Amino acid sequence: MTPSEHVDNTAAPQHVAIVMDGNGRWARERELPREQGHQHGRIKLHDVVRAFSERGVRYLTLYAFSTENWRRPSEEVEGLMTLAAEAIKQDAPRLHQEGARLVHLGRKDRINPDIAAAIDRVVDMTKGNTGITLSVAFDYGGREEILEAARTLLRDDITPDDVNESTFASRLFTNGLPDPDLIIRTGGELRISNFLLWQAAYAELYFTPTLWPDFGPEEVRKALDSYAARKRRFGALDGE
Ligand code: IPE
Ligand code: IPE
Ligand code: MG
Repeated sequence: MTPSEHVDNTAAPQHVAIVMDGNGRWARERELPREQGHQHGRIKLHDVVRAFSERGVRYLTLYAFSTENWRRPSEEVEGLMTLAAEAIKQDAPRLHQEGARLVHLGRKDRINPDIAAAIDRVVDMTKGNTGITLSVAFDYGGREEILEAARTLLRDDITPDDVNESTFASRLFTNGLPDPDLIIRTGGELRISNFLLWQAAYAELYFTPTLWPDFGPEEVRKALDSYAARKRRFGALDGE
């Protein structure tokens, strides 16, 4: 039996989440400023969203800026903020036309108020769309999200007996989204970097050395084929 015969292409994950890493190294390999790596990474977004959507993925979540990325030099942070503003202006209307629903995961109180307002506008504009749900994690950190959920539970005066997975998850930024079935990290690092800590409990993990600006439809196919060939057990036994 050839490896491809193991692959069941009907088994598309419902929710894929991606740590888009490797922009800086992509630029360094070409002796370009890091900023150019981020720009090339952004250019890829639309094709990648479409490729996942065509393969039946209903939810796609992209890690674009972590709560720790504020530690980078201010010029790089500013460059990333400018790119975010450009993406909202250029990519969001196109995604809207194609029926995508846009969601933001993360804090909005530390980012530029104009960008925060633009995020609110595109989320509102696309909220009735029925195509792929594209969530962008921007100023997002998993620990921060869990702490904020705990604070909200306390503010809501929930009694200890009412704290369960469902009441807790409904206070996370991802409220209403299914847990990711597949988490992809590009760029070769083998870590989660504070992404979807609660939600990743039973996600399948896929790491590729491909740098984010080189991640295209062919890489999407490889990741989904790898997922389709896996057996998920959620702690039970096969066939139960
Ligand atoms: C990912 O690329 C983009 C962000 C974290 C914003 P990097 O900028 O981390 O690229 P490398 O890891 O330095 O190559
Ligand atoms: C993770 O990449 C964050 C994003 C892709 C937004 P980093 O490049 O920040 O991760 P570390 O620092 O290598 O763990
Ligand atoms: Mg990195």
